[in-house]
Amino acid sequence: MFAHAEQTDSRGRAIRLVNIYRQPHLSLASGAGHRVALFLSAEHKVARPSGALSSSSRGGQATRIALGSDDIGLPLKNVLAEYLTELGIEFVDLGARDETPVDYPDIAVAVAREVRDGKFERGILVCGTGLGMAITANKVRGIRAATVHDAYSAERARKSNDAQIITMGSRVIGPEAAKTVLQAWLGSDFQGGNSARKVSKISAVEEQELAR
Ligand code: RB5
Repeated sequence: MFAHAEQTDSRGRAIRLVNIYRQPHLSLASGAGHRVALFLSAEHKVARPSGALSSSSRGGQATRIALGSDDIGLPLKNVLAEYLTELGIEFVDLGARDETPVDYPDIAVAVAREVRDGKFERGILVCGTGLGMAITANKVRGIRAATVHDAYSAERARKSNDAQIITMGSRVIGPEAAKTVLQAWLGSDFQGGNSARKVSKISAVEEQELAR
């Protein structure tokens, strides 16, 4: 079974969604005029380990994730894509597709805008260090992107900072550790309370600075 669907991103560009469930390889060829992305349709979702992903942000519906990397981050992104597939978590890969050099800000802003626009609840960005991706994504109004290379920070990025996006560096963390980090982030949700006040202050600073 190899199903396709179409949607557009926030700039009206076509995204081809490809059901890769039970496909042996994650590498996909781009169709003309399309960027190829990946998804798991509801009927093909595999069992999700308990606690692997909080779905409270969508009232019990599955959370959708936008994924992106530059060419340096591509190998680790592919590892994370495969892991998401194993977990049965729906995602779309916004590139890079191959080792052709691509500037990390171009990918970071694409993922961040999709999350800002509500098309995806969360985003994952991978470059060499995770730093350039986070710096860029945080320029998009309302986005809180955190570079995380350990499980505790990943958990706090959700619970304390309500980070919709995490970034990682393929030159910083290995594949198995990265999967542990990802699972910690996916299994956490914003705790609200005093943290809500603090996150509101981040937004206030952002608005003040943008108005200058
Ligand atoms: C390569 O451009 C490298 O700078 C990039 O992958 C990332 O590490 C930037 O922060």
